[in-house]
Amino acid sequence: MRLTPGSGHDIDLDRVDLFDLELYSSGDPHPIWDVMRAKAPLHHQVLPDGREFWSVTRYDDVCRVLGDHREFTSERGTVVTHLGEDDVAAGKLMTSTDPPRHTQVRRAIGTKLTARAVASWQERIRRAIVRFLEPALDGDTWDLAEQAHRLPMIVAGPLLGIPERDWDELVQLTAMVTAPSDPHFHHGSEAATLAISHHELVSYVTEWVKRRRSDGGEDGSLLDHLMNVHAGDAPLTDEEIAYDGYSLLLGANVTTPHTVSGTVLALIERPEQFEKAQAHPSLIPSLVEEGLRWTSAACNFMRYATNETQIGGGTVPAGGAVVAWIGSANRDESQFTDPHTFDITRSENRHVAFGFGPHYCIGAPLARMTLRIFFEELLQRVGSIDLDGEPQHLRSFFIAGMTHLPIVAQKRKTL
Ligand code: HEM
Repeated sequence: MRLTPGSGHDIDLDRVDLFDLELYSSGDPHPIWDVMRAKAPLHHQVLPDGREFWSVTRYDDVCRVLGDHREFTSERGTVVTHLGEDDVAAGKLMTSTDPPRHTQVRRAIGTKLTARAVASWQERIRRAIVRFLEPALDGDTWDLAEQAHRLPMIVAGPLLGIPERDWDELVQLTAMVTAPSDPHFHHGSEAATLAISHHELVSYVTEWVKRRRSDGGEDGSLLDHLMNVHAGDAPLTDEEIAYDGYSLLLGANVTTPHTVSGTVLALIERPEQFEKAQAHPSLIPSLVEEGLRWTSAACNFMRYATNETQIGGGTVPAGGAVVAWIGSANRDESQFTDPHTFDITRSENRHVAFGFGPHYCIGAPLARMTLRIFFEELLQRVGSIDLDGEPQHLRSFFIAGMTHLPIVAQKRKTL
C-alpha cells in the first residue's frame, strides 16, 4: 500500500471495500481512513458472502478495542483473514486467549524476550546484519524487500533454535499465512494456501519438540524455553507449545522486513531526512519509532464484541467482529502533529504499531533492537540510496508491506 497518501476527494464510504486486495497492492487506503476517522469512526461492511465486520479507525477507539478484553475478546480469533471462522486454537494459542490464562502464559514466555534478555544477542545480531548488508554495497541493483524477508530468520532463527537449513522454508510458509492472496506466496486458492501453511508450521514445531525430547539436552533457545516453562503451576501442554512456537515464528517473520523496506523507501523519497539521520546517529532510535509508525506493518487486528457495545458513535452487536485499523490510528491527527509527514525528529510518538494492552507485541524489544542495529549499520556504510525500479506492494489487507524494492546503494566515502 502507498504510505505517502494521494488526494482523498470523492470518497463514498458506502461503496468502500476494505477487503479489496487491489486497495493494498496498487491503491491508497490512507485517504479512505482519513475520511472514516472524520465521518464514520464506526464503519460497517457486509461482504458479498454475508460475513460482516465493524471497523474502528480512531486512535482512542483502536486502543480500546485492542486493550479491553472484557468488551472485545481475542478468543474467537484476531486475524482478519479468518473473519467469521471461530479460532480452533482459542485458549491454546497465546494470541487467541484472554486474561487470566493469557497473563500466565505470556509472563512465562516473556522472560526470554525482555529488553534485558535480548540485549545479550546484540553483537550476534549485529554480525548477522553486517553480513546481510554486504551484497547491497557492490553497486548493483539489490532488491531490499525480497532480501529482507530472510532478515528475521537470520536474526531470530538462532534465538528460536531453528537450524539454517530450515529458514527459507519457514520464511515462505509464514508469508503464505499472512498474504495468502499474493501471487508470490499463494498455492491454489486462498483457503488452500492458509490451510497448507498453517498445518506445515504447526507440524514443524511439533516435530522439533519431538526430536528434542528424544535427543535430550537443551540449547537455551526460545523453543526449548517453551518446552520447559511453567504457566500457572503446570508446564505448557504440547498443543500450547506447538501453537505458541508457531505464533513466535509468525510474529518474527512477517512484520520486521516490511518495517525495514517501508522505512528505507521513506528515506529514499526524503533525502533531507536521510542526511539528517546520517549526520546525527543519535536520531536512529527516533527514526526507528517513526518507521514503525509510518509503515504500521501489522495493519490491523480483530476482536469480537462480547456484548452489544457503543463505540465510535455507533453500536456493535454482541458477537460482532471489530477490526482495529492500526495503520489509521497511527495517522490520527488528534494524536500526531502532521500525521502524514515522515519526520525522524518527531518527539511525541506514542504509536500503536506494536498494539496496545495485554497483547502488546511480546517481540517489541527484539524488533526495536534489530531495527536500530539495521539502521546504524546501513547509515554507517551507505552514502546514498536510489530507487532502481517501481516498488511492488504486498497483496494483503492484514500486513502492509512490499514484495519488491529494487535499490542501488553507493558506499559512504569515509569508509
Ligand atoms: C516490526 C515488527 C513487529 C510488529 C510491527 C509487530 C506487531 C504486533 C502487534 C500489533 C501485536 C498485537 C496483536 C494483538 O493485539 O492481537 C503483536 C503481538 C505479538 N507479536 Fe509482534 N510485531 C513485530 C515483531 C515481532 C517479533 C520480532 C516477534 C517474535 C519474537 C513477535 C511476536 C509477537 C507475538 C507472539 C504476539 C502476541 C502477543 C500476545 O498475544 O500477548 N512480534 N505484534
